[in-house]
Amino acid sequence: MSRKNRRLSRRSSSSVTGAPAGAAGLIFPSEVRAVETMRLDKVLCDLGTAPRSEVKKMIRAGRVCVDGRPVTAPETKIDPSAASIMLDGERLAWKKYHYYMLNKPAGVLTATEDRRQKTVLDLLTPQLQRMGLFPVGRLDRDTRGLLLLTDDGDFAHRVISPKFAVEKRYNARVEGIPDEADAAAFAEGLVLGDGTQCRPARLEITGTDRCSVTVTEGKYHQVKRMLSSRGKPVVELKRLSIGALSLPDDLAEGAFRELDEEDLCRVFMVR
Ligand code: URA
Repeated sequence: MSRKNRRLSRRSSSSVTGAPAGAAGLIFPSEVRAVETMRLDKVLCDLGTAPRSEVKKMIRAGRVCVDGRPVTAPETKIDPSAASIMLDGERLAWKKYHYYMLNKPAGVLTATEDRRQKTVLDLLTPQLQRMGLFPVGRLDRDTRGLLLLTDDGDFAHRVISPKFAVEKRYNARVEGIPDEADAAAFAEGLVLGDGTQCRPARLEITGTDRCSVTVTEGKYHQVKRMLSSRGKPVVELKRLSIGALSLPDDLAEGAFRELDEEDLCRVFMVR
């Protein structure tokens, strides 16, 4: 069962549960499909409209219509993927899951909340902050670049898990001069100072003190530790791509945008 509280039920003739199902209450095989019903107040919360207590008041005040009828009971079960949901006459577009990319600046924590420090969630709008998004994997506080945010746990797992070998590419500025011996050691699979075995990775020399590093796993401080183990400590690190999805040049530091289906496919493609 996913965190989105999935539930299999039969389709009724209306998406608001409680309405009659099919002719004479019979359900024909063609009408049977997997329907995920959810409480109306939860649907509005997941849409980020307002906090739960506020949402309940909005529903009780008659501001919400489902399939053209006002619904005033927050606990009403609806099928959000089939229902037409209106708030104050405005249609709300429901999506089961949400996917965003953020150009993370340095100095921001990859976390959903922190008492003292600014987190990546603080860079989003209040509406997005209420939608249960979390970062897919982690960039260090001083690392910049492409970070994905979602509320889809399965997606996040597939991006992060080494089992799926999704490539993450970084640009690094280092102390020292990366060379072909470093590239060969990366390709072989480095063993770090503490004995940690790394998967084979790609190091490409991009300048005197610069290289790009592509890894398919996400160990703690992985790229920094790999380069340090070769005597080339990292001075600056920026993530450029995940799979074939690159950080767009026109996405400013601190800015974010929603991913479309093509972007999502790219995440699981090789560059
Ligand atoms: N590897 C690191 O060392 N740091 C990051 O932030 C990401 C990958």
